[in-house]
Amino acid sequence: AGEAFFDRRGRGLRDLRISVTDRCNFRCVYCMPRAVFDDSYNFLNRRELLSFEEILRVARLFVDRGVKKIRITGGEPLLRKNIERLIEMLARLDGVEVTLTTNGVLLPKMARTLKDVGLQRVTVSLDALDDALFRRMNDANYPVAKVLEGIAAAHAAGLGPIKVNMVVKRGTNDGDIEAMASHFRHSGHILRFIEFMDVGASNGWNMGEVLPSQDIITRIDRLYPLQAVDPNYSGEVAERWRYRDGGGEIGVISSVTQAFCATCTRVRLSTEGKLYTCLFAQHGHDLRSLLRAGADDAAVDAAIAQVWQNRDDRYSEIRTAETAARQKIEMSYIGG
Ligand code: GTP
Ligand code: 5AD
Ligand code: SF4
Ligand code: SF4
Repeated sequence: AGEAFFDRRGRGLRDLRISVTDRCNFRCVYCMPRAVFDDSYNFLNRRELLSFEEILRVARLFVDRGVKKIRITGGEPLLRKNIERLIEMLARLDGVEVTLTTNGVLLPKMARTLKDVGLQRVTVSLDALDDALFRRMNDANYPVAKVLEGIAAAHAAGLGPIKVNMVVKRGTNDGDIEAMASHFRHSGHILRFIEFMDVGASNGWNMGEVLPSQDIITRIDRLYPLQAVDPNYSGEVAERWRYRDGGGEIGVISSVTQAFCATCTRVRLSTEGKLYTCLFAQHGHDLRSLLRAGADDAAVDAAIAQVWQNRDDRYSEIRTAETAARQKIEMSYIGG
């Protein structure tokens, strides 16, 4: 294996997030607003997508350079045809954990297979327990029950402990925070509240719709007393809390009010083979043309090294209303 790389801020490379499709069956208001992602939206076509063989090749080079975690994202990754084949290929790489983030509705059909091919865990997004509110937020009329079935199927298949992600928009779903906490206490799943972020350029983000994680902790603590828990590892994105009565664990992801760029070890590979060194990047680095021009492993490895060693990103530390308005890549394209 090659030596580990460090970027300009001394950060290593530990996590590879691979987006496998830019499509989704949901139209979450904070991610793929229907007014933008409608019938006339230009999604990537088949030729543009990296093949599974191409993805595996890039992933192997990253693992040789010290990547320990691979997360499959989308859009909705379970919509990618034969995704279980890719997961099987990736799970065979030595010393790497493979996980996936999904909206959950395809899990009843697929959880068992995903477990069998070597997927270790899943993270499922769920933004509300109130059915009418959830349907409004996913804007595709999916009921809460479908997602809960998906979570149950993943749990039964052994894909736990399952993390449940709730994106909180002040004035939209913050009224459901306590209900979500009550529901997932004692379930064995880990509920995580994510501050609404200015990903992309189409979700109409403004600071007024961000509810600081600290407020969430205060509100839940009033109902169910909480205690802070040490991180599982340095650079963990979610800050951990546990219910003092043994009801389990929750987390908060506070990219807006408490940036965690200083320890960010994540790189993102887009569906079409561009490398992004930040979730809020405006440009990526094209690996696909290199792969398709017949570059050998040493050349691809050198390109990856150059991208990482030049990295200087710390977007969440410098966020302002002005930066929020920049033409950034979309969440549905890069997968969070
Ligand atoms: P595990 O610890 O392995 O479970 O992974 P994780 O906590 O990174 O989980 P996940 O990938 O689900 O990340 C949770 C969410 O945090 C993402 O979906 C994003 O919304 C947000 N997030 C993850 N990484 C970053 C990042 O580098 N920057 C910012 N600003 N947000 C991030
Ligand atoms: N702000 C915060 N989280 C977001 N996600 C998608 N868009 C945003 C946003 N603008 C979440 C999804 C999913 C994860 C991949 O990121 O709900 O849980
Ligand atoms: Fe789809 Fe996830 Fe974006 Fe919602 S947040 S539209 S489920 S990719
Ligand atoms: Fe990493 Fe960019 Fe997120 Fe900061 S804003 S934690 S650099 S992905």
